Amino acid sequence: MAKTMIMDHPMIQHKIGVIRRKETGTKDFRILVSEIAMLMCYEATRDLELSEIEIDTPICKAKVKELKGKKLAVVPILRAGLGMVDGMLTMIPAAKVGHIGLYRDPETLKPVEYYCKLPEDCASREVFVVDPMLATGGSSIAAIQMLKDKGVKNIRFMCIIAAPEGLKAMQEAHPDVDIYVGALDEKLNEHGYIVPGLGDAGDRIFGTK
Ligand code: PRP
Ligand code: URA
Repeated sequence: MAKTMIMDHPMIQHKIGVIRRKETGTKDFRILVSEIAMLMCYEATRDLELSEIEIDTPICKAKVKELKGKKLAVVPILRAGLGMVDGMLTMIPAAKVGHIGLYRDPETLKPVEYYCKLPEDCASREVFVVDPMLATGGSSIAAIQMLKDKGVKNIRFMCIIAAPEGLKAMQEAHPDVDIYVGALDEKLNEHGYIVPGLGDAGDRIFGTK
């Protein structure tokens, strides 16, 4: 079974506390989501492999570490996942970016697919799927299945807030996927929203409501 990491870094916790506030406006919300993604990316890449190489400093030869060069990709689930892309790319600027478009039907809460465009060599990359919210788990489970159907083997999933129901569903559906969670909340309400959560992440990032 892959690992699930609930973030305990004080900077991440503080910033999540600010985006939960209903008075936090679109501009600050967007900036903070990006910053949280950057900090979470830092934590989620702790186990990337390094190799040792020899270089010349201006003074002498030295052995230094460099990332082993495994190719990475970031795949946001549209729309809200887009808010996490810049922060991820700040940490891993060479990553390629794919997009998966899914929205949650408000009645059935089931994910509806409307877009999928991935880097050509996605199957050979380590892919970070990002979405701020893991509620029932339907959207992220479906997105990861779409990647697996295209041959992607190394997948990590990162969300800012998760409901216990969604986290459990995700662990059961994709036991091979490492999951990084900014904060684990209490429950889902009768409309499938995370409690206490932060409301609708997509609407708050893009100012659509
Ligand atoms: C939100 C969120 C996730 C999904 C989570 O997207 O960004 O993708 O809901 O819910 P689930 O775990 O129950 O599937 P939404 O469908 O509202 O689309 P949007 O990002 O376009 O606003
Ligand atoms: N999607 C959101 O944006 N927020 C929730 O609380 C649940 C799903």
